[in-house]
Amino acid sequence: MSDWISFYDFKHSVIYVNARHRDVHYRKIAEDIRDYAASPAAHVLDYGCGEATSAELVAAACAQLVLVEAAPNVRASLTMRYAGHSKIAVVTAEQASALPADSFDLIVMHSVAQYLSHAELDRLLAVFRKQLKRDGLLIVGDVVPPHLAAPAAALTLLQVGAANGFFWAAVGGLMRIFVSDYLRLRKTVGLSHYEAPAMLAKLKAAGFATTRAPHNIGHNQHRMTFLARPA
Ligand SMILES: C[S@@+](CC[C@H](N)C(=O)[O-])C[C@H]1O[C@@H](n2cnc3c(N)ncnc32)[C@H](O)[C@@H]1O
Repeated sequence: MSDWISFYDFKHSVIYVNARHRDVHYRKIAEDIRDYAASPAAHVLDYGCGEATSAELVAAACAQLVLVEAAPNVRASLTMRYAGHSKIAVVTAEQASALPADSFDLIVMHSVAQYLSHAELDRLLAVFRKQLKRDGLLIVGDVVPPHLAAPAAALTLLQVGAANGFFWAAVGGLMRIFVSDYLRLRKTVGLSHYEAPAMLAKLKAAGFATTRAPHNIGHNQHRMTFLARPA
């Protein structure tokens, strides 16, 4: 399903209607992740971080933040953005997979599971299970249920736009998504959807004791966040 990596490999992805939308989106995600980074000594991995324009907020609450981004142009822009930041490292997906066991107190993978095949997700969960410390936490966020995913995403975008002064840009952005590669890729490459019991079973099979969080990270509360600890 690597075509999705190419889809996201723009300096400014079509998914964000403008810079304000992108920054509101990443600020909310960073604030929510920060709430889980319970200790200033914590080592945190954000897998599939995207443009992560508010990563400093997470870094300020922990000892080290490793940003993992598979899309090369997005990664290059992250590397430039955080070049002078002593707590933030930017790595490829391959480099992340090669990191040693017991490295992280918190691993976050937010809004990525839908772009992975079931086998890819299983492989990554096994890597995360090894890299997580015994008392660590894995967060799998923004998991998309099979029904009403598109209307819920569109409604969330309009609501966030209305609340943050970019409603009409959000309307225009929705139209742009319609003529972008997004719908074609959704049909040809596909997206992975999960009901809550299916994701709980997947995480259990990977060696985690998991609960569903009361709130999804980010704005879209139609999607789900799971909190998984080594069993
Ligand atoms: C919707 S963005 C999520 C960005 C950020 N975590 C957020 O919540 O806004 C999806 C991310 O998944 C990454 N991605 C897509 N397919 C992937 C794959 N097969 N392996 C690793 N990353 C992938 C993309 O590069 C992109 O950064």
